Amino acid sequence: MQFRRVDALPPYAFAEVERLKLELRRAGEDVIDLGFGNPDVPPPEIAVEKLREAALLLRNHRYSSSRGLPNLRAAICELYHERYGVELDPETEATMSLGAKEGLVHLLWVLLAPGDSALVPSPSYPIHLFAPGFAGATVQRVPALDYVAGVEEAWEAAQPRPRVLLASFPHNPTTACVELPDMQRLVDFAREREMVLVHDFAYADLAFDGYRPPSIFECDGAREVAVELYSLTKGFSLAGWRVAFVLGRADVVGALARLKSYLDYGSFQPLQIAATVALREARDQPAQAAEVYEGRRNALCDGLTRLGWEVARPKATMFVWARIPTDEKAQDFALRLLREAHVAVSPGSGFGADGEGFVRFALVENEQRIAQAVRGIRRAIC
Ligand SMILES: Cc1ncc(COP(=O)(O)O)c(C=O)c1O
Repeated sequence: MQFRRVDALPPYAFAEVERLKLELRRAGEDVIDLGFGNPDVPPPEIAVEKLREAALLLRNHRYSSSRGLPNLRAAICELYHERYGVELDPETEATMSLGAKEGLVHLLWVLLAPGDSALVPSPSYPIHLFAPGFAGATVQRVPALDYVAGVEEAWEAAQPRPRVLLASFPHNPTTACVELPDMQRLVDFAREREMVLVHDFAYADLAFDGYRPPSIFECDGAREVAVELYSLTKGFSLAGWRVAFVLGRADVVGALARLKSYLDYGSFQPLQIAATVALREARDQPAQAAEVYEGRRNALCDGLTRLGWEVARPKATMFVWARIPTDEKAQDFALRLLREAHVAVSPGSGFGADGEGFVRFALVENEQRIAQAVRGIRRAIC
């Protein structure tokens, strides 16, 4: 049988690295896994305690609300108010999603239809490039490292005219960051061209050296054109909980909430209750997590620089995006690093053709393990 939507997907680009990693581990090798960006920082204890307590109450085992409990939506709006000085209405401008990834896919399903197109940074977190296709739309790629300058030209070239401008700063995998004036340019551009601006703010919390990533809602007029995805995965270290929010432009948030009322009943209610506690009572967690990732960034960037491998030092995210120091293809280089250094990384080509020539390190092992990884890498490249 043919499964047209699934069959059309390209082969999973990280599969070869994953296969070799498992093979080496089965053979007893100690592989340092800097491939998958799966956060390992402990979650806030107070939230885990609340989860346990809430799970003991039978009433919390029934269906919940797909938009998210009112208290949870109020809590994310409070965080936005405190951090970014923006006043969002929890009733009309906030809905929950089962992680930013699920929220993004269904959001683009709401916004796009066959015959539409979207402007998307490239290389990209893979679902950014695939989600428009799930909705039957096409993608006009824009260089991620020059996104703000590139969207205008891409808009001119795109046929049909894009309905969605997808942005994501700090950016995975390139770690590109943006300052408020450039963010404002994107908002103005989207308004002038009557596009919906979708901002994936998954790395809102993970910034270093005093840099603070701006929310789209710090821009004038953003609430009329933009929605922003904020997730508890990275800053609050709650990846497995699948709690995120789609915030902003009320008609878009309303349309997504309507679609989702047909698709799910929200996440397990104790998770929502405990996530509310995390947002209200573990406000320091994101800064603490950022500190951990900053230490690892320093360990990796300093270590690679000592080897003569010059890599850009990211201001944010949990990644280092490194140009390959040899003329090998990304996939070949990643496989060799795994074989010779026992270090797993993601080949840049897995983030779209524009990622060729790079690898991405995810900072998901501790500083000692990263130092060990650097020693292994020395064997492979020096
Ligand atoms: C840009 C971006 N968006 C979304 C996600 C997924 O976030 P969530 O766990 O909230 O689905 C990731 C995770 O790697 C990401 O890099």
